[in-house]
Parts: sequence; C-alpha cells; structure tokens
Amino acid sequence: MSVFLGIDIGTSGTKTLAIDSSGKILSDASASYPAYHPQPLWSEQDPEDWWNATVKTVRSAIKSAKLRPADVRAIGLSGQMHGSVFLDKKNRVIRRALLWNDQRTAAECEEIEQRAGGRKALIKMVANPALTGFTAPKILWLRNHEPRNFDKLAKVLLPKDDVRRRLTGEYATEVSDASGMLLLDVAKRDWSTKLLGKLELDRELFATCYESEDVTGNLTAEAAKQLGLTTDCVVVGGAGDCAANGIGTGIVRSGALSASIGTSGVMFVHSDEVQIDPAGRLHTFCHAVRGKWHLMGVSLAAGGSLEWFVQQLCPELVAMQKKRDPYAALNAEASAVAAGSEGLFFLPYLAGERTPHADPLARGSFVGLTLKHGRGHCVRSIMEGVCYALRDSLEIMKELHVPVKQIRVSGGGAKSPFWRQLQADIFGQAVSTINTEQGPALGVALLAAVGAGEYKDIVEACKATIHTVETNNVTRTAKQFYDRAFPEYQQLYRSLKDDFVRINRLQS
Ligand code: XUL
Repeated sequence: MSVFLGIDIGTSGTKTLAIDSSGKILSDASASYPAYHPQPLWSEQDPEDWWNATVKTVRSAIKSAKLRPADVRAIGLSGQMHGSVFLDKKNRVIRRALLWNDQRTAAECEEIEQRAGGRKALIKMVANPALTGFTAPKILWLRNHEPRNFDKLAKVLLPKDDVRRRLTGEYATEVSDASGMLLLDVAKRDWSTKLLGKLELDRELFATCYESEDVTGNLTAEAAKQLGLTTDCVVVGGAGDCAANGIGTGIVRSGALSASIGTSGVMFVHSDEVQIDPAGRLHTFCHAVRGKWHLMGVSLAAGGSLEWFVQQLCPELVAMQKKRDPYAALNAEASAVAAGSEGLFFLPYLAGERTPHADPLARGSFVGLTLKHGRGHCVRSIMEGVCYALRDSLEIMKELHVPVKQIRVSGGGAKSPFWRQLQADIFGQAVSTINTEQGPALGVALLAAVGAGEYKDIVEACKATIHTVETNNVTRTAKQFYDRAFPEYQQLYRSLKDDFVRINRLQS
C-alpha cells in the first residue's frame, strides 16, 4: 500500500492527513498550541510546539488508519507563511518565531524600501512591496532591536521548513513559501542576490530553494524512529498554506480562482505568467505548480468578522451552541433581510487590512445604522462586507487582465448556502463548491504523491482527485444592486482612512 502524508503547520494547530494513491482520505489528526502576544502588535510561537504537534499528529494518523511504517512513502509540508525561525549555528532556536500576523516591523518595512531604492525598485526585484507580516522585515527587526541575538544568527527558516530540518536534517524551502519572505526573485524562482546585497544579508542565512513537488530529503533515522516511519520515506518541498490550499482546491490552471473564507479571506488565482501589480496591492508569489505563479489578495478578518460578532454580541447563541449552530441561526436572520441590508454597510477591517489597503490602522465599522436595523441586518451587512472586501481583490485581478473563468469556494464561507449565493451575486460570477474540505493538508499530500512518482505532475493529481460539486449562479437583480452598492463600499474606506489614523492616535 502507498500512503502520502500532508502536514499543515497552522497558527492554531497542526493537522496531519493520510491519503492513498487515489487521493482517498485514510485518516487525519490535529493538535493545537498557543500563540504569544507579549506586546500589542506582537505575535509569536515556539517552534518546539510545531515539532511536538507534528510528531503527535503523524503517530496518531498512522495509528488510526492502521498503517505499517513502510506504507508511508512521502510527506508534504504546508504551513503558515512568513514566520521567522531564527537558528544559531548549532540549530538552537534563538528566540520565539515572529508570525505572519505580527505587526511590529513598520519601521523595518520603510528601511527595506529605502535600501532597495524605493517601493517601485523593490517591487521590481521581489514582485511585492514590504508588508509588516513578511519575513525580511522581521530579520531586520532582529538586527535593529536584538543585536546580540542577530550576532548568533546562522539560519532563518520558515515554520514548515524548520519542521523539515528536524525531519530530514536539510535546510530546504520551496518557491511558494519562499516568495513570502520578500527575498525571492519571484520571476526567476530563486533568491534575489540583488536585494540581499542591498539589505546586507548573507545568502548563507537561507535554505536551498526547490520546486514544491521536488524531493528535499529522506527522513533521518532519528526522525523515522520518532514518527514511527522508515528512512525510505521522502519529504517533498510542499507549499505555503495559501498555495497548498490552491492545490487542495484544484486551482492549477489559468482561469481558476479560489475564494476561501476562513478566519481570513483569500482570493487566489493561478497565473501562467509572472504578473505583478505595479501598485503592490495583490501579492504575486510562485505557485506550487512547477514554473507557474499565483496572485493573491488577503482580507485579514473575513470569517473572523462574523466570529467576532457571534462571540462578542450573541452570548445566548454561544451558550446554546451544543443544541443549535449559532451560524445557522444567524444565516436565517440575515437571509430575511433585503440585499444591501437597508443601507447598512460593514467594513471588515477588525484586524487592520492587507488587500487592497495594506493599512494596519484600518478599523472595523458599521456605517448607516438606523433605529430600524436589527441583528439580521448587522449579520447580513457583515457577510456582504466580507464579499465586497474579496471583490476588491477580484477587481484588481481583472484590472491586471488575469483571467477568472471559474470560482471555487471553500472554508466556512462555502458551507453556508446563503453566503455562497452572496459571493456569486457580489462577485458577479457563479461560484462552485468542491468535493473536499481538506485544503492545504490535501494539497501537500498530493504534492508528496507527485514527488513519489504516483502522478506525472500536480495538474494530473488534482484532475484525478478534485472536482466541483454544486454551483450557485448569479441572481441578476441582486448582481445589479450590488454593482451599484460596491463603489459606495469602496468610498467608505477613502472617507474614513484619515479618521482611523486619528482614532488610533487617540488610543496611544
Ligand atoms: C498569507 C498569510 C496567511 C498565513 C497564515 O500571506 O499571511 O494566510 O499564511 O495562514
């Protein structure tokens, strides 16, 4: 029997998935761990927790599927992107890793732009502007704020690549995750020696960069023993969680786009060419498909906005949640309200916003409340606001002439038929669900199967295993309404932008 494991090192926990060569799910296992916020805007995790969760979930997935050690032929790794594991020359972790949602590096982002010769020059070198969440500013932060730690620095690895180091003994990464470090020449799919030079960072600090389906090493004897596997098991490059989810939802061809609404919302589109947004609003990263790219827009609080509403403002629904799903109850209330929530808009900027504003100071807002508005209006306006935020990314893709022929929805936003219909009506295009909800872990398990020679390439693997199930078509009248309402939504950020700055100043 041939089995492939996908391991996704997420922010709230790690998930391991076992599949057979036909893509059938044999078992899965999850383990959670904490994040630390020692100061406002800081977000950190302990790489040791990722390793312990990896060992635990692999052992548990093997046990529950009753696999023999030799059955597992290959492992694919996925993980939260942009995090920084700082290692000394003896592979000891120097300090806790800074995560993708850590916002401490505003000054270092400016420093990077300056050293690069301006924002335009930076985008030319690495396809993207400097954002606080990316990895390069984190390294400069270490140099600027913890110089003694920086002096000890021998390697900087991404979260999943530190787990790989412990699995294989190799310092290796792959193009999709490396793109989010802001140090990769995304067009050439290798480190940008030019930017490294300007930032005075030694290339030796970074791992060897592979394509996502390439084998990066075998399990060491020690790792094989700890996981209950054999040293014949190989570890392929894998992918950052966004590209891994792209694979796991079958976004591997021109024209295919994934709209995923989880805590954050991600619009992810495949591209055969390197297409760069000169304004830097969308990210352009290497795809986990060999020689291809993807563009991506990220809304930081998508499902997270609705979750906030439920947790903070609907205590009676939370108290009853064992008997009735709070989200189902709220969906019913929201669907009884007319399109546009009777003039109520919600800006989902509860965690600042990445795409298109790249504004950590933006705030969540209800605008247009009247005495007539009730809870259903608020919920509908949140769901509409999240779809508008994702449409912002879609509009930029269209502006760049990236073809979008099919939209596949996933995450919590795909489970609700009501939210699916809103997506179709607000995007102005039909949306389809797919036959799996395993996302990133499935994506990298399939990459592992390709690396082990089970499929010719990842396109063939996706074609064999992932297909659409149900389609929501556009309702013409709703689309017409939302086409008129969307510019109003866009105008609200422009109107409030400076107020957000002042409100934040007031707080500090
Ligand atoms: C992508 C991003 C997040 C993290 C965490 O750019 O910041 O999706 O990968 O999952």
